[in-house]
Amino acid sequence: MKKTLLFTLLCLVFIQVAIAQTLESPNGELVMQFSLQEDGTPVYSLTYKDQAVIKPSKLGFDLRDEKDLLSGFSISETEESTFDQTWEPVWGEEKEIRNHYNELEVNLLQEETDRNLIIRFRLFNDGLGFRYEFPQQGSLGHFVIKEERSQFAMAGDHTAFWIPGDYDTQEYDYTESKLSEIRETMETAITANLSQTSFSNTGVQTSLMMKTEDGLYINLHEAALIDYATMHLNLDDEKMIFESWLTPDVNGDKGYLVAPTVSPWRTIIVSDDARDILASKMTYNLNEPIAIEDPSWIKPMKYIGVWWEMITGKSSWNYTDEFKAVKLGETDFEAAEPNGKHAANTEHVKEYIDFAAEHGFDGVLVEGWNIGWEDWFGHSKDYVFDFVTPYPDFDVAEIQNYAESKGVKMIMHHETSSSVRNYERHLDTAYQFMNKYGYPAVKSGYVGDILPRGENHYSQWLVNHYQYALEKAADYKIMVNAHEAVRPTGIARTYPNLIGNESARGTEYQSFGGSKPNHVTVLPFTRLLGGPMDYTPGIFEMDLSKLNPENDSKVNSTLANQLGLYVTMYSPLQMAADLPENYMRFPDAFQFIKDVAVDWDKSVYLEAEPGDYVTVARKEKGSTNWFVGNVNGNDARTARINFDFLDKGKTYIATIYSDAPSAHYRMNPQAYEIKKYRVDSRSKLSQLSAPGGGFAISIKEADKTDAKDLKKL
Ligand code: NOJ
Ligand code: CA
Repeated sequence: MKKTLLFTLLCLVFIQVAIAQTLESPNGELVMQFSLQEDGTPVYSLTYKDQAVIKPSKLGFDLRDEKDLLSGFSISETEESTFDQTWEPVWGEEKEIRNHYNELEVNLLQEETDRNLIIRFRLFNDGLGFRYEFPQQGSLGHFVIKEERSQFAMAGDHTAFWIPGDYDTQEYDYTESKLSEIRETMETAITANLSQTSFSNTGVQTSLMMKTEDGLYINLHEAALIDYATMHLNLDDEKMIFESWLTPDVNGDKGYLVAPTVSPWRTIIVSDDARDILASKMTYNLNEPIAIEDPSWIKPMKYIGVWWEMITGKSSWNYTDEFKAVKLGETDFEAAEPNGKHAANTEHVKEYIDFAAEHGFDGVLVEGWNIGWEDWFGHSKDYVFDFVTPYPDFDVAEIQNYAESKGVKMIMHHETSSSVRNYERHLDTAYQFMNKYGYPAVKSGYVGDILPRGENHYSQWLVNHYQYALEKAADYKIMVNAHEAVRPTGIARTYPNLIGNESARGTEYQSFGGSKPNHVTVLPFTRLLGGPMDYTPGIFEMDLSKLNPENDSKVNSTLANQLGLYVTMYSPLQMAADLPENYMRFPDAFQFIKDVAVDWDKSVYLEAEPGDYVTVARKEKGSTNWFVGNVNGNDARTARINFDFLDKGKTYIATIYSDAPSAHYRMNPQAYEIKKYRVDSRSKLSQLSAPGGGFAISIKEADKTDAKDLKKL
């Protein structure tokens, strides 16, 4: 009798271990398996066209002050479903996005503690997303995460394009190395930043791009990061297993959660064609639909700014050099001696407004307009800015009237200096001030260490702050472009007023000593998957000593590469970052920046290889115009593209802005050529791009007579 019972029990255990739940992607190419190990540990794995992408990997949590959620689970219920819907983004690379997946919901019970945990898997044709859900229950309410223990076991020593794991910055150049080489390369990969906290010599950030020896492209990231700490990855480089590593708060805790709640999605995008990674919309699809009822006030913008002159050191943000420290409300700026370099003055801003109006730009950004820049960083100063008081030489009302009379919008700047509590204190009045003076968009910034002291840029508290500032901005119908904030995770689907983020190494670093010439061939595979980047392209003068004799930085890019960026680096907010006088030296090349669209009906990725090149064609929203952009890595390369994305039977005029044969990002960056051709859907192009180079093409429909004198491509 006893023996029979034991046998039955053993059979039950065996059945539970052996039964794996299998989920297939809609096209059947991806297969996910979920099972429980003998001790009740949840495990998943993923294959793509029968090749291992993720080997069996454990899931769960270490909690503070209570039993972990790692093992001892049984499956109480599973449910499978299918979803297939198409939605229209307010702005984007595509007019329509299909959200098509098969879902598996696994309900787990940890019998010993009577706690319930759901793991939800969504398998798309382009990858897998999974998240943890903590339902309302009697045995789990408030809890503190010590560590999330989601594993991503790699099937080999892949090549990775990575930046160091860091709680405070993403502003790093990418390192390309084998996974096994991360440890030895870490020290050189960590370059200086005004706020940085690395945590492990095998710790890297997401979005992480990898390539396998068999030619699979794998990207690890997260989607819908809401009320939760940012995920990094730490590699066990003997077993090649990545494990989640959340950003801690000041106490070292990694998340304060209250059931019912959910984690962000953990994402694995995979394909054997690199172009599919760039085209993937999975990160957006895993976010909630739009939460703004009438988004008609959200409009893509092309802008210039009183900015690059400060970044290069030609001008200053601060008004006076007289004081070592200033106090808002006490320092008398009216009586202070101006330093003669303050760029945000009414007269100079009006010149930018004139330039914007003349060349068709939507907006002008002005930095350094408000008091407080004299001692704005490095002092852990709490009440650093009030976001409403201009310097004596910046007349807000006059500038606004002038801009309005010229049909130009002003873009507000809120540098918080990472004094986040101070920003929240002033947020309502700051947004009201913007409404009063008609500013539709704000560029915010979080330079330096966070205040409250000890917090990190990517901890749960800060993630909640960025979300709060975004949602409040929506209440005031304000669009947000946040620099140094957490990297995006597709939240712009829900809040499309998040029209930009920096959250990576942008063009400013070209003025701080330079970035790697192939940096821009990696960003579309990593940072851009979660949302657009305010990369601030369009630099025409690469020798920055010409702007400021004390700045010996060189921009590691050709001029044609700078044009290509307007298409390869998708953003509904695009800056022409250089000084107006530099554009006036190259008016024929500047024409491309004036013409290029910022919102699209369709995007076709023509060629792509992380670290080497990206070539994309996009169709302007509501128009028949197309634009093509190419950015190239360290070595010269000939792109071979055909124009079969064009409508059949139609004739177009293509204007090609390319590197001249002698161009080189270091030796000859300004050598470019402009050629015009007649093209149609059968045309083909072989186009050379220099090291650090690229090209841009504008394609406009033409009647046959307009195009008849042009050579056919
Ligand atoms: C860093 C930002 O990335 C840059 O664009 C800005 O000008 C400075 N902070 C000052 O706010
Ligand atoms: Ca920055």
